[in-house]
Amino acid sequence: MKKNNKLKVSIVMGSQSDYKTLKLAEKVLKNIGVSYETKIISAHRTPDRMYEYAKSSVKNNIGVIIAGAGGSAHLPGMIAALTPLPVLGVPIESKKLKGLDSLLSIAQMPKGIPVGTLAIGEDGAINAALLAASIIANNNSTVRKKLLNWRKLQTKSVKKIPK
Ligand code: RP5
Repeated sequence: MKKNNKLKVSIVMGSQSDYKTLKLAEKVLKNIGVSYETKIISAHRTPDRMYEYAKSSVKNNIGVIIAGAGGSAHLPGMIAALTPLPVLGVPIESKKLKGLDSLLSIAQMPKGIPVGTLAIGEDGAINAALLAASIIANNNSTVRKKLLNWRKLQTKSVKKIPK
């Protein structure tokens, strides 16, 4: 496969209401210096937009897709079925079931089409960005250096004794 170090991360979400969670993924990617784009794409409200997006994802220089969705949360699985790219699902915390519905829906993909599933809500959004960055880092040494530095700073920030 041709080496491409210009690959970006694409963050998609089912609704504007998911942005308060997914903006944390943007923040991490910005911090590590990974290029990204952000879009609202709903599997049930804008199915044609989802199809077009997923089908053109490879030619659009996307390396990893982060898909956040809540409730029945079929967006990550539907996108994964339409693209060969790795898809990381972020279960959004729903009002009624606190995101357990989203988590089970995204994690329980039947065999054949995988979706990497992260934790519910903000932790999931942050870890999805870190995981996406480490996938991009396989072909991008600058991103790998920045990711390692991010971890170093995290380690430094942990105090040895409580104050
Ligand atoms: C899903 O339905 C979205 O991902 C969102 O988490 C949930 C609720 O959407 P809204 O009713 O807030 O637009 O498709």
